[in-house]
Amino acid sequence: MKALVLAGGTGSRLRPITHTSAKQLVPVANKPVLFYGIEALVAAGITELGIVTGDTAAEIEATVGDGSRFGARVTYLPQERPAGLAHAVLIAREWLGNDDFVMYLGDNFVVGGITELVDAFRAERPDAGIMLTKVGDPSAFGVAELDGSGRVVRLEEKPAEPRSDLALVGVYLFSPAVHEAVRAIRPSGRGELEITDAIQWLLDHGHAVTPTVIDGYWKDTGNVTDMLEVNRSVLEGMEPARLGDVDADSELIGRVRVEAGARVERSRIVGPVVIGSGSVVADSYIGPSTSVDSSCVIIGSELEFSIVLSGSRIEHAGRIEGSLIGRGVRVTGAQRAPRAHRLVLGDHSHVQITS
Ligand code: G1P
Repeated sequence: MKALVLAGGTGSRLRPITHTSAKQLVPVANKPVLFYGIEALVAAGITELGIVTGDTAAEIEATVGDGSRFGARVTYLPQERPAGLAHAVLIAREWLGNDDFVMYLGDNFVVGGITELVDAFRAERPDAGIMLTKVGDPSAFGVAELDGSGRVVRLEEKPAEPRSDLALVGVYLFSPAVHEAVRAIRPSGRGELEITDAIQWLLDHGHAVTPTVIDGYWKDTGNVTDMLEVNRSVLEGMEPARLGDVDADSELIGRVRVEAGARVERSRIVGPVVIGSGSVVADSYIGPSTSVDSSCVIIGSELEFSIVLSGSRIEHAGRIEGSLIGRGVRVTGAQRAPRAHRLVLGDHSHVQITS
């Protein structure tokens, strides 16, 4: 069995973070979301990975490499334009050969991995295995309608009036029967070849499509709270460790990981929290569910339920909560009058001001 990992797309929902970086590389607990997907595939015994890339190909390739660090072998499959998930299957036809495969969307996060699902597919051999989960905003997803006995009757891509609250999770299992389906379908209203339509084609032509309903799912819906939630849940399972320097005037409480080369001085950290390598936290409070990536500086500030990407600096900024802060960002307190907000924000930024 092989895996087709999709790592193209524009990431419009995660702007401004994705103005400068691939959405699949947004970190969760200081690790790119894509790495969790690759690890889940390897854990399920799948090590032949084809990664479909778009405009951010160079960054994806530089970060993932040849796959050996994951115990996998990666082949890059460039997709000229983002023409849809089923189009990715079309261009990967030769690489996929006649193997069964998992299609894994690199911006999706499935808590608990996919091993059970892959094992069930291997045992039952349907032509498609789909994962479904209940969501609050089904019209942002592919939506499945099941009958009374749990069989899939209909799939619709981003319906204006969803017939259920069961969204298609971005992990699909296919037999080679899908190749005929992706050749047969036509582009959707948004001009893409939808994998949802290809699976509907399989249903219409009498192929077996097996649904599995799961909990614990996240995708980049653009809702920062969702990102913070998935970060929280991953941090809760993280191994605590004190690999960097923590001075005697600091206090670490609960599940706290201080990476090698990080420094904590005169600060209080209440886990789950990770402080990345080369970062400095001084005279600060870092509260639960916070990830500070590498090479950050946090001085004289309070930070809770937040994600800070690498190379950012937060100084005398008061208390920051529920925030997603990008790379190389500077947040500083106004030390002198006038105590005004001064903002230099990128396109599509969001700011909430307290006074
Ligand atoms: C795609 C699929 C959709 C699925 C979603 C899961 O949506 O088209 O059916 O529910 O992935 O991530 P897109 O990311 O293209 O909006």
